[in-house]
Formats: sequence, C-alpha cells, structure tokens
Amino acid sequence: MGTILITVGTISSITGILAFLLSLANRTIANYGEVNITINDDKEYVVDGGDTLLSSLIENKIFIPSACGGKGSCGYCKVKVIEGGGPVLPTELGYLTDDDVKNNVRLSCQCKVKENIKIEIPEELFSVKEYDANVDYIKDVTPTIKHLRFKLPDDEEINFKPGQYIQLKAPKYKGNSEEVYRAYSIASSPFDTKHIELIIGYVPNGICTTYVHQFLNEKDNVVFNGPYGDFYYHDNDREMVMVGVGTGMAPILAILNYMKAENINRKATFYFGARHLEDLFFMDELENLQQELPNFRFIPCLSRATEEDGWDGEQGRVTDSLKKYLENGGNKEAYLCGSPRMIDSVVDILTNKGIPKDLIYYDKFE
Ligand SMILES: Cc1cc2nc3c(=O)[nH]c(=O)nc-3n(C[C@H](O)[C@H](O)[C@H](O)COP(=O)(O)OP(=O)(O)OC[C@H]3O[C@@H](n4cnc5c(N)ncnc54)[C@H](O)[C@@H]3O)c2cc1C
Ligand code: FES
Repeated sequence: MGTILITVGTISSITGILAFLLSLANRTIANYGEVNITINDDKEYVVDGGDTLLSSLIENKIFIPSACGGKGSCGYCKVKVIEGGGPVLPTELGYLTDDDVKNNVRLSCQCKVKENIKIEIPEELFSVKEYDANVDYIKDVTPTIKHLRFKLPDDEEINFKPGQYIQLKAPKYKGNSEEVYRAYSIASSPFDTKHIELIIGYVPNGICTTYVHQFLNEKDNVVFNGPYGDFYYHDNDREMVMVGVGTGMAPILAILNYMKAENINRKATFYFGARHLEDLFFMDELENLQQELPNFRFIPCLSRATEEDGWDGEQGRVTDSLKKYLENGGNKEAYLCGSPRMIDSVVDILTNKGIPKDLIYYDKFE
C-alpha cells in the first residue's frame, strides 16, 4: 500500500512540475514581441506576435474571406506569404493545390505571425468593411429558415456583386463562449445599398444559427463584414442554369433581383430543391419573377412530398429535374448553391450535358 502511495505521489509531482514548466515555456518562449506585417510591399502594420495571420489582419480591419470563421475547414482564407510564416502545416495541405504550395500560398487562419512577415492580398480586400447594422425584420419563412433584413447606418452603404456573401458575427451568448464569424449569401438586390437581406437556416447546436434563431431580435444591433466571394453574376448572353437547395436560394435570388432591376431577359431556369411542402418559401416572389422576366422559368422540386401535401409539381431531387428538363449542349453557364454533395452531383450532370467546368460557378455551403 505504502509503495503504491509513494508511486502515485511521485507521478503526480512529476506531472505537476511538467505542467508548470510547460506554462512557463509558453509564457516566455511564446512571447514573440511586436512584429511587422507588410502587405503588397506597400502597407505596414505592427502587431503582437503569436496570433494567427487572419486574426492579426482582422485586428487591423483587414478582412480576409474566412467562411468557417478560422476553423481551418473552408479553405477560403488563402494569402500569399512572400517572407516569414514558417513551414506549411499539415492542417493546411488538404486545402492547398500543388500550385498554391509552390507559390507560398497559405491558410491565414493556420499560419501564425511569429516573425516579420510579408504578404500579398488582392487590392479589393482593402475595400471590405465591417458594418454595425440594425435588424429591420426577422420573418420565419419555413419551420427552420428565417429571412432577415439589416439596415445600415445612415452614413454607410454597401456595394456588392449579386451572388456575393457577408460574414456575420455571432457574439458570446449563454452557451457560447467565443465570438465567431459565419458566411451568409446576400439575397437582396445590389441596387439597395442601404440594406442587406439574408436567408438563414437553423443548424442544431450551430453557434451562429442558434444566435440568429434563438437570440437575435428585431431592432438589435448586428455586426458583419464583407462583401466577399467570386460567385457572382456574369454578364453575357449564355443561357443560365441555376440550381439551389434550401438556403442556397439566397444568392440566386440576388442574381434574379438584379436581372429584374436591370431588365435582363436572358433565358434562365432555376431548379430549386426542398424536402416537404412546408420547406418551400418565396414562392410568390419567384412566381412574380417569372411574370417579370419572360425567359425565366422556376422549377421547384420536392424530395419527400407526402400525400397530405397534395403536391402536383416535380418530385425527387433537383438532380432528377435537371436530368429530365435540361437539354444537351447549347451555349450555357451554371450557378449552383447548396451542400458540397449536391454540388458535386450537379456538376457531374452538367458536364455530361455539355456545360464546360469553367462555366459552372458555385458556392458550397457546409
Ligand atoms: C460562401 C458561403 C455562403 C453561405 N451562405 C449561407 C446562407 O445564405 N444561408 C445559410 O443558412 N448558410 C449559409 N452558409 C453556411 C453558414 O456559413 C454556416 O456554416 C451555417 O449557418 C452553420 O453555422 P453555425 O455557426 O450555426 O454552425 P457551426 O457552429 O459552424 O457548426 C456546428 C456543427 O454543425 C455542422 N454543420 C454546419 N453547417 C451545417 C449544415 N448546414 N448542415 C448540417 N450540419 C452542419 C458543423 O460541421 C458542426 O459540426 C454559407 C456558407 C458559405 C461557405
Ligand atoms: S478561415 Fe476557413 S480555412 Fe481558414
């Protein structure tokens, strides 16, 4: 018994000493002091070393797309690191192409600023701003999806391309101890520069969607930054194939609203997927768009319609509707929004029907 107690005591002491040494090392070795971030050989910022590149940039009001909020799971936060930054980490490799690695492109949410660092970012990111807005309204459009409108302060406006997204900040709240940013596509027309509308689905236990669905109220203040994204309307005469599921309707709606405002009468078909009848929303708005844009056709499709739904429209997945209605060939381009799985299957169908990969634009919603 005595030997066991001595052994346990010795192990506990050694563990305690190691923990102490580790915390001491963290406090001393991990103190990198002030370091410089030089951007595009032009602008210089002094930051406290040790934080991620993404956080250090945000601290200086430079906003890099970071759709997963810095979790290392979206691959959106790529930045070219010319000098400093250390070796590429295993957590980055899954998101970097061979060309990225060759060109020193890094995930800014994984790369730490421990020494002076030189980076390159697209100039347009300097015009991304953070906005303090006010919630104009929040409406339930399905049992799990809300439609929100934010009003910008009188002296502010936002300019974006139809299809782009913003990043909404979820503050700390009861049950959530960290501030996070999440990406949401703008659903409203870019001609309304004083408001943005969003369509946000509920993800059980999701940090930001719990904030939006359970804590956010009309008249509350919200913080978001943007606009971001290379998924947006391309101005040409090609026929448009649009595919969205659930909240994936948001950026397509922005594109359609833009086309309506600009009187653009290209041939366009929107294949929209939902499960049950109660999951369909904005049906009147889409019906009106069909009236106003004579070459636009809306095809909603239910994958789990029940008899009580009395649904006489398309049944099955959006991919079934696409196979049924989309003709082969022709001069077409496509705009897709939804889960990665849906997008992958749709891309396969579209390429088989003759739409080149580089004319298929998409935003994958995780
Ligand atoms: C470019 C872009 C645009 C987007 N636009 C929209 C939009 O317009 N409307 C919208 O509602 N969402 C949109 N999203 C998704 C959105 O950014 C969030 O990922 C989503 O709202 C979940 O955030 P959360 O903080 O609530 O969940 P988190 O706290 O991030 O996640 C909680 C858990 O749920 C899982 N999870 C996350 N999302 C889903 C999901 N959709 N279904 C099932 N499990 C999930 C996570 O893996 C995690 O395990 C967009 C994403 C991207 C990349
Ligand atoms: S912010 Fe998503 S991977 Fe870096």
